[in-house]
Amino acid sequence: MEFKIGLIRGDGIGPEIVEEAKKILDTTAEVYGCTFRYSDMLLGGASIDATGLPLTEDTIEEARSCDAVLMGSIGGDAATSPWYRLEPSKRPEAGLLKIRSALGLFANLRPAYLYNELRSACPLRDEIIGDGFDMVIVRELTGGLYFGERHTDMVDGRLTAVDTLRYNEDEIRRIARRAFEIAGKRRKKVTSVDKANVLDSSRLWRKITAEVAAEYPDIQLENMLVDNCAMQLVRDPAQFDVILTENMFGDILSDEASMVTGSIGMLSSASLNETSFGLYEPSHGSAPDIAGQGKANPIATILSAAMMLRYSLDLDTEADAIEQAVQAVLSAGYRTPDIYTEGNILVSTAEMGDQIAAQIRERKADTV
Ligand code: IPM
Ligand code: MG
Repeated sequence: MEFKIGLIRGDGIGPEIVEEAKKILDTTAEVYGCTFRYSDMLLGGASIDATGLPLTEDTIEEARSCDAVLMGSIGGDAATSPWYRLEPSKRPEAGLLKIRSALGLFANLRPAYLYNELRSACPLRDEIIGDGFDMVIVRELTGGLYFGERHTDMVDGRLTAVDTLRYNEDEIRRIARRAFEIAGKRRKKVTSVDKANVLDSSRLWRKITAEVAAEYPDIQLENMLVDNCAMQLVRDPAQFDVILTENMFGDILSDEASMVTGSIGMLSSASLNETSFGLYEPSHGSAPDIAGQGKANPIATILSAAMMLRYSLDLDTEADAIEQAVQAVLSAGYRTPDIYTEGNILVSTAEMGDQIAAQIRERKADTV
């Protein structure tokens, strides 16, 4: 079987972590007998440097011709990078928002779970961690405040800025269905997060989510206000299975959820549309301060590649193999600097990729 995979290497540590993910994809292809063809494309700062724009029509066209796209992280240091002297619509992040919208990537899945091996990196107290936690944030990605009308004008002699939070029922219904489908394959609980005590958009969110819940009688729906959710994530994270929420709340809560795992360098994400196409990227940023030094943890990108095999290419066995190889390498004690603790084996970005690739080969050899 042959697949076409778009690669957006991105900025900062992006190129080095994408290189390791490609190493893992190539190893998986060789060991399991499939073929991945790659197409390099530009987004974010690298695209600004090459074309003057954070996203070109070429990239959008090329992405449409791929089965899926794997991306490193984009963006730079806002205080020093010339990209941030451009007007907001020409900066790296604008390219990311535009590609999400152009490809209709409305469903953003961000798993956050605690690796037992990395318990000591979790900032929560032992009694809160308990037996660990494992949740997925399902964030609506192409609506709400991010895409509503915005402008800044002089009103009555004062500069006045307006952002618009707008959702229609279809946008809510399709993301809610995704969340319930995912919960059906997990622990069968959806926590829908909103601010229904204040916002009309949240009251509509609650109404439509309740209607969708009626289609899934075996799944429990719980509604939670966003401020309470922020608190519950550090008070008792194990209560969550699937968190369903709108764009802005999801942006904020997913950073919080990844932080409480203590290992943001480990967390993958997927942005999906109505078809099997998806854009896969690590949950972390481009970390320009450590770029090019071999210190970056490639695991989040490698696990994003595994998600890509599972959700877009329907290669579950291969995805399992990558995830198990990562687990085995952690069990053997290999650590990049971000997750290193005394007594472990410190490795570089490329050495981490080599170890995971070696595990994929060995484990396959063991089963034949
Ligand atoms: C994310 C990021 C983006 C977002 C930024 C870079 C525009 O924070 O993917 O969570 O806010 O969606
Ligand atoms: Mg964010």
